[in-house]
Amino acid sequence: MSIRARVAARWPKNIPLQIIPKTDWAGQRPTYQDAQPALIDGALRRAQQRPSGNWYVFAASTDVRGDRPFGTRVGGVEIVAWRDQQGGLRVGPAACPHLGADLATGKVQCGGLICPWHGLRLEGGREFGWKPLPAFDDGVLVWVRLDRVGQEAPLDAPVIPARPEGARLAAVTRLEGVCEPSDVIANRLDPWHGAWFHPYSFTQLEVLSAPPADADEDADRFLVAVTFRMGRVGVPVIAEFTAPEPRTIVMRIVDGEGAGSVVETHATPMGAGPDGRPRTAVIEAVVAQSDRTGFRYSLRAAPLITPVMRVAATRLWRDDLAYAERRFALRDNGSQ
Ligand code: FES
Ligand SMILES: [Fe+2]
Repeated sequence: MSIRARVAARWPKNIPLQIIPKTDWAGQRPTYQDAQPALIDGALRRAQQRPSGNWYVFAASTDVRGDRPFGTRVGGVEIVAWRDQQGGLRVGPAACPHLGADLATGKVQCGGLICPWHGLRLEGGREFGWKPLPAFDDGVLVWVRLDRVGQEAPLDAPVIPARPEGARLAAVTRLEGVCEPSDVIANRLDPWHGAWFHPYSFTQLEVLSAPPADADEDADRFLVAVTFRMGRVGVPVIAEFTAPEPRTIVMRIVDGEGAGSVVETHATPMGAGPDGRPRTAVIEAVVAQSDRTGFRYSLRAAPLITPVMRVAATRLWRDDLAYAERRFALRDNGSQ
């Protein structure tokens, strides 16, 4: 037994870090036979059939403030968001109803949004021909409802994944890529690429179960045993992947350090870029929780999974976006 293996074997059970044995990337078991395209496509199709009620995540809750407007694009629609004096979320089209100035370049004062061109002031209700859009702040992310973009039956509120109760840490990251939301979702519905494509973040990855072709709602999930790695140490967990609505993937840690913690991936179509190809925003929220009891211990332990995930995330999410972009490029080229 090597020294490292002996250390790993003697590592106290209640400490979630493990020493990772040296692995040879090319020596891993290939996963292409398990990662059947039809299985991934089936999971994607079922995700796309679930209702979203035309709701789109557009930012982290903390991005929208009471001292300046926030602007972005969803489904080709320019939107502006800000907070009123009670902290309430206000969202609407970014074009000023007067001559069309970009309201995201305006100023927020005493809860009202002031247009930079001629000073028109919007309080957030229907005024001067400007119409607010339905918006929702779930405490971590903010959503806007665009019925003309989604063309589904509208829902009163977005489909928000279950999140851990109590003390929690939310970290939200945003990336943009040349692809469609389905490309981002399809990437996440392929857990088999993890240890091959992201060996710096994942190791000892095993897909414990994948949904059958005719999966009903309860069975429609991937169960994955994986070790998040930070250099030579790792945190082994069992994670579940589900798609509660067409543009969201939830990774929930169901066993191990941080059980109950979730990483939500939201893929929001922005509309076409200058080159005519679609842009998609990937907005990822890490909401962490530790399952360990003992106040003193959990205070130290709770944030453990979050920094691990965050360290893992930067490169991980770029690489996943490259996967999604590649998937789109193949389809795009094929259609020309
Ligand atoms: S364009 Fe906004 S006030 Fe004139
Ligand atoms: Fe990935």
